Formats: sequence, C-alpha cells, structure tokens
Amino acid sequence: MRTVVIAQEENRIDAKVMAQAGEIIKRGGLVAFPTETVYGLGGDGLNPQSSRKIYEAKGRPSDNPLIIHICRMEDLQTIVKEIPDEAKKLAEAFWPGPLTMILPKADCVPKETTGGLDTVAVRMPSHKVALAFIEAAGGFVAAPSANLSGKPSPTLAKYVVEDMDGRIDMIIDGGNIEIGLESTIVDLTGDVPMILRPGYITQEMLKDVLGEVTCDPTLLDGDCKDRPKAPGMRYRHYAPKGDMLILEGSPEAVVKEINQMVEASRAQGLKTGVIATGENADKYCADVVKVIGNRSEETAIAASLYRILREFDDEEVDAIYSESFATDGIGQAIMNRLLKAAGHKYKNLWEDA
Ligand code: TXA
Ligand code: MG
Repeated sequence: MRTVVIAQEENRIDAKVMAQAGEIIKRGGLVAFPTETVYGLGGDGLNPQSSRKIYEAKGRPSDNPLIIHICRMEDLQTIVKEIPDEAKKLAEAFWPGPLTMILPKADCVPKETTGGLDTVAVRMPSHKVALAFIEAAGGFVAAPSANLSGKPSPTLAKYVVEDMDGRIDMIIDGGNIEIGLESTIVDLTGDVPMILRPGYITQEMLKDVLGEVTCDPTLLDGDCKDRPKAPGMRYRHYAPKGDMLILEGSPEAVVKEINQMVEASRAQGLKTGVIATGENADKYCADVVKVIGNRSEETAIAASLYRILREFDDEEVDAIYSESFATDGIGQAIMNRLLKAAGHKYKNLWEDA
C-alpha cells in the first residue's frame, strides 16, 4: 500500500485535504492524524472491519480496546448507554482536551472497537486538525496512538512514517505535538471515578471537579499484585531497545551512582546513555546524554520523553540510566511512562543513605 503524507497546519486547514482523509475513513481505510497528546491512527469507530485493520497495522493484540474520538458534545449520547452527571461535569471542564472517559457502550459500538468490553473509551481532542478530520470522517474515529505496538507513542510525524509507512492510507503531518504523553483515562463505570492512565489532566484537577477520584494502584507500583484495569497498561509499552534503569535520590548521589554504572557498562563494551535534567546534564560521563528539560518545567519534560526514548534506539544505546521525577501533578504521568519503559527497574538511593 502507498501511504500519502500531507502536511496541515492548525491555523490553515485545507478543507479539500480533510474531505479526502474523511473519505478514506468512510470507505474503511486508515489515516494517522495529529492530536494535542500524540499522533493517532484513525479508523471508523463504528465499523468492525476498520477496527480489525487498526489492530493489524499496529501489530496490537485485539483484546486491547480503542478510544473513540468525537468532535461534538452531542455525539457522545450516540455511543454511550447513558451520560452520568460526572461525565457531563468532566466534559464541561476538560473537553475538548486530553481526557478520555470510560462509559457503558451503546449497541452501535462494535465489540471489535472495545476489545470485547461492554464499556467504551471516549475523548474529544482539542487539536484543530484532529477536530476537522473527525468531522469529515463522520464523527466517530477510533484511534490508538500511531506507533507499532511496543514502541513509544509518536510525537512527530516522522516517527509515524517510520512505523506506519506502507501499512495505512494517509498520514496527516501536523508538526510538533504539544503535550507528548497520551490522554488521562478516567473510568466512570464504578462507584468512585478511577484514573486508569495518568496524563496531563492530573488527579488534583479531576478532584477539583468531582470530589473523590482514586487511582489504579498498579500504575506506579511494579510489585502490585493486581492487574491494571486498562488492558493496554498491562503490556510492556514504551520500551526502548536498550536496558533501562531509573535512579532516585539526592542529585549528587544520583550523578555519582549513574557515572559508576556507566563506567561498569562501558567496561562490558556497552554503549551508554543518560536521561538528565538540564541542571545536571554536564555532570555525566555517558556516551549519549539527553537533556529532558529542567526539573521545574514538567510540561517540557513530558513533551520530550518519547522523542528521547526513540533517539536512544536510533543511536543504538545498550544501557540507559535515567534520573527520577516527583510523582505528583504531571510527574505522575511522566514516572508512570518512565517506569513502564524501564520495565519497572528502579533503584532508590535514599534507602541506601
Ligand atoms: O492521547 C490519547 O489517548 C491517544 C490519542 C491518539 O488520542 N490515544 C491513545 O490510544 O493513547 P491507545 O489505544 O494507545 O491507548 C488507549 C488506552 C489503552 O490502554 C486501552 O487499554 C485503554 O485506553 N482503554 C480503551 N478502552 C477501554 C475501556 N473500555 N476500558 C478500559 N480501558 C480502555
Ligand atoms: Mg498506545
């Protein structure tokens, strides 16, 4: 299959291009598109055949459900059984934006899209290209992140091309992505709203609107005996090819320990890499040192993380060491993704001290 790549800017959207992309979806094809979180791989969410194609293109297990993206508030009622008050409040506060809600699905949503579940994940993105595309496509676009299964989600169109060229009909290149981590997922089907995947919309922000909001305990705890509630969080996602370890402790202790580990890895003939905050970057002796951002700028750190993980792969780094981040606010999402990338390999130097 030949994959067409077309650039679109948020403030100069070409209606003809959107119509062309919409037609592809309506006849059962696949189009990758930019959102404010990461690039999505879109198909018709109400067409079981399209969902099957999405799983195939990504190489993703078909029990891992897809998010349906909408562009109008009134379309929510079409795909869910009922809209609880909590969903209305959250939609009002955070849509369009990086929040996905899990609700009981309506009959028109095929089981292929929901991985066999009776619930459906819904999100209204804020990216203007995404909204125009969803409208042109008929209003209900199922879209996982546009990476091959197991790779970091794409934050640049070039990574979508790397993973999806020849597998899908079209890629809409919207340039740089703003947030860089996937949407927050909140499950509204239980007694108390529960975060299944942390993101840019934080637990604190959700609590401000809803009161009580819990968090799936498996998200930051690798030893937790339960299984994550979102099927996708059970897989080892976001994994770079190299082995990765996260170190937590005072800045001095972390720098010292990482440099010792780098020397040891090097002695074994391994290529070494470090994920460093701007404050410490020049203190490391690794072959490749990537600056993820300054410690105080959490949104910048979130936006660089997946690009850096992919760059380590491109540069064939064998042993990756990363500084650790606070686990409140957006830090909860950053640490959740980092821990997954590292397969939960984590060393706490405070405990040694
Ligand atoms: O920011 C995002 O959410 C991006 C962009 C493209 O919108 N999409 C995205 O989709 O990250 P994906 O498929 O990579 O991740 C969807 C996650 C998976 O972990 C999946 O298991 C979970 O949502 N999920 C989907 N439907 C669910 C449901 N009914 N119940 C529980 N988890 C669900
Ligand atoms: Mg994904």
